[in-house]
Amino acid sequence: MNNIAVLTSGGDSPGMNACIRSIVRYGISMGLKVYGVRRGYSGLIEEDIFLMNERSVGNIIQVGGTILKTSRCKEMMTEAGVVQAVNALKSRGIEGLIVIGGDGSMRGARELEKHGILVACIPGTIDNNLFYTDYTLGFDTAVNTVISLINNVRNTSMSHDRVSIVETMGAGCGDLALTAGLAVGADFIIVPEMKWGVDDICERLVRAKKTKKECSIIVVSEHVCDPNELAKMISMKCGIECRTVILGHVQRGGSPSAFDRNLGTKMGAKAVDMLMQGESGVVGYTSGKFVYVSIENALHGRRKFDINDYNLAQRLSF
Ligand code: F6P
Repeated sequence: MNNIAVLTSGGDSPGMNACIRSIVRYGISMGLKVYGVRRGYSGLIEEDIFLMNERSVGNIIQVGGTILKTSRCKEMMTEAGVVQAVNALKSRGIEGLIVIGGDGSMRGARELEKHGILVACIPGTIDNNLFYTDYTLGFDTAVNTVISLINNVRNTSMSHDRVSIVETMGAGCGDLALTAGLAVGADFIIVPEMKWGVDDICERLVRAKKTKKECSIIVVSEHVCDPNELAKMISMKCGIECRTVILGHVQRGGSPSAFDRNLGTKMGAKAVDMLMQGESGVVGYTSGKFVYVSIENALHGRRKFDINDYNLAQRLSF
């Protein structure tokens, strides 16, 4: 193994830059040439590939987003796109590729692997929706960002005796809403994994109001319901003013936490090691240890939702 490349794909997440820095510097220290691919698989297909050096990754460890830029690439779902990507790598003598991204990015990696390219994947997404790792890269920062934003919402919600509904991202996984919701003492957490009902929420809110609770926060994971409709229903049924905040992309940016910087740094080095050993796979971090799964297996398991944490959060909100 002499030449490797790195790309970021799908939604960016905080810690990706720390990871890129680690891959480039660790790779060079091991005697490799490290190429950067701009704009994920789109840039790979379009051969937007450049040789990186130790200075290419200076002053980025603390920066959110990805200096390589990213994309969601439709061509990579076609055989023609995959063949173009393979040729772009082979024509430069690049034998191994590191892909930092979520589950969609790993589907592209599986196709490249089928064509004989070694691919090491690092789970980078704020969603924490992958079963083989306790933490995806960027999740910890996003949780802290959401907490800080909800703290601000709580100030104004309390001043006005309102109920605030805060929508987080999550892409079908309730981890971000649950972890942030538990940490802010949310009154109700709505996630795709658990059943919920407006009547139950209203009953809790009315009970809380009777005990002079000044404000209530409901955290809802995206795509589970329309938060504005929910706010209308709550206002109508409970007679309490209810407002909605959709956090959107602010929760995906920001300087990475210490945890994400170090997770990205360590996973980056592990991915380089994997390629140097002539292997493909995905790096995870479970029960305090780095673990490895095949790309194929990584695409099939389903993340287990933490029902105990969910029940505890519900129990404490009265
Ligand atoms: O996967 C990361 C994520 O932020 C999801 O939480 C969200 O559903 C999606 O990406 C949003 O994608 P986009 O930035 O393309 O709107």
